[in-house]
Amino acid sequence: MSAVIDRNAAVIAEFRARNGKVGGPFEGASLVLITTVGRRSGRPWTNPVVALADGGRQVVFGSNAGGARDPHWYLNLLANPQVTMEIGTDAGHVKPFATRAVPLAGDERARYWDLQCSRDPAFRAYAAAATTRTIPVVALHPLDLAGDSARGRLIGEQLVRHHDDLRAEIEQVRERFERALGGAPHAREPQGPAEQLRRHCLTFCYHLQLHHTREDGAFSAFEREFPHLVPAITRLRAEHVVVEHALAAFEAILEQAATTTTPPRRLRDEFERVLTGLEEHFAYEEAQLLPALGR
Ligand SMILES: [Fe+2]
Ligand SMILES: [Fe+2]
Repeated sequence: MSAVIDRNAAVIAEFRARNGKVGGPFEGASLVLITTVGRRSGRPWTNPVVALADGGRQVVFGSNAGGARDPHWYLNLLANPQVTMEIGTDAGHVKPFATRAVPLAGDERARYWDLQCSRDPAFRAYAAAATTRTIPVVALHPLDLAGDSARGRLIGEQLVRHHDDLRAEIEQVRERFERALGGAPHAREPQGPAEQLRRHCLTFCYHLQLHHTREDGAFSAFEREFPHLVPAITRLRAEHVVVEHALAAFEAILEQAATTTTPPRRLRDEFERVLTGLEEHFAYEEAQLLPALGR
């Protein structure tokens, strides 16, 4: 793990534990966490960023502390503007929100930039240091379903499509297991079966992690629009945590298997155990959410 990722992980953990407050160099700063999808890796990345509240939206700044390059999260959101934002709330805990990222330009960008510089003069120094670029300023618009049934239907369609994609990926990983059990490694994959499976499972885990992160954000809009769904959503959020832990445990088993002689049959049985819970989760989610979303 690089020092930057390490430091980020510590800030993220503190942010979530202290309702959005962080000490050290960020003491007193108003921060949000944003999760973007890696434009090449498809992997979810979470970063703490300085934010300015502006009515219902948050405006964030890609200062990169005056670095020569735009931060990765900014390049990621240009490629895919679906960003999950986590923020401290009056309820005393951090809450995730599905947002759409809109880079600001011209006078609008200048207005928020000046406002931020007057709040924190360090930003003027960042701009002076980052001479080769204009520091990006981005507005994050939270998803709002109020009176927008077309958007609700669209989200319902997206949910089913993502579940179907994930189900197809599950089938692919299953096939790998069967191949490994049959002792016939893929001709173009020189690694052992456990290593092959680990790679495929890891990709699947990233996709699932991203799906759940985005859902957790969208759920906050559902809870507001469809209060009768709150008990089901509470259960769905809890299931996301259970699935995440089960997959992390399975990844650890796979990692161990890469250096020992764990029988593929045992790996497959473990994988099937995790999947049974996941498939039940997909089915429950569709049954609970789709009727409200107009499907
Ligand atoms: Fe889910
Ligand atoms: Fe889902």
